[in-house]
Amino acid sequence: MTAVIIDGKEIASKKKVEIAQEVQKLKELGITPGLAVVLVGNNHASRTYVTNKEKTCRDLGMYSVLIELPEEASQEELLSKIKELNENPAIHGILVQLPLPKHIDEIRVIESISPLKDVDGFHPINIGRMMTGQDAFLPCTPYGIMVLLEEMGISVAGKHVVVVGRSNIVGKPVGQLFLNQHATVTYCHSRTKDLQFHTSQADIIVAAVGIANFIKADHVKEGAVVIDVGINRNEAGKLCGDVAFDEVSEKAGYITPVPKGVGPMTITMLMYNTLKSAKNTLR
Ligand code: GUN
Repeated sequence: MTAVIIDGKEIASKKKVEIAQEVQKLKELGITPGLAVVLVGNNHASRTYVTNKEKTCRDLGMYSVLIELPEEASQEELLSKIKELNENPAIHGILVQLPLPKHIDEIRVIESISPLKDVDGFHPINIGRMMTGQDAFLPCTPYGIMVLLEEMGISVAGKHVVVVGRSNIVGKPVGQLFLNQHATVTYCHSRTKDLQFHTSQADIIVAAVGIANFIKADHVKEGAVVIDVGINRNEAGKLCGDVAFDEVSEKAGYITPVPKGVGPMTITMLMYNTLKSAKNTLR
């Protein structure tokens, strides 16, 4: 089988048009959705992500503000900045770009963000609400994966989903979203024995391990849906995912490429969450 390529860039573009239209409607009511992005230090990858988030915000007609703190900024400074943003009515979403410098307690910082403005969906209140199936801000990459499948008309209920990776940002929450949609979910990770035994039974594989070309054709059942969350560089410095695309795409039924697969959906769902937060102020 040769896999259908899931075009994340195109699906993201379509969603962004819908979001921009809703932003315009909200602006007519006097509300401009506003996102504050906080960047601490000078991590090169983080700066690229943050610039992208800001630009997308403005492209969709939203208000965007970047708050930059130096690498040596204290935890107190950061917490006080977040407090200000929590209290600022022009700001509907607050995103603190991770990772933070080592001297800052990430969990403390995430917990200081108002759950009502936590558009990353990282606050324990939003995670708990997601787990119990209540309305919540859903974390952007997992949410983007669910939207990709929905847009492709790929059903989830009753499917066996194998998630490879257990990060707080992707692996753990994406498994929960699949469970909420009635899938049977298996989590695999670095200490899983006989990974191939599990992945080869999967109807849907989510690869989120952060190792270039880790998932090979032998891991994949014929016709399976393969979602690649990885953003890695191979030995030649070329951008690649966690899935060995050339060989797996010969066997899978559907596959997301890297780039232009899951990546564009992450930012799109951040915009969606910011819009949702702004709309919540009308309630
Ligand atoms: N670092 C890598 N991915 C993310 C993300 O989705 N949100 C934040 N805040 N930081 C990140």
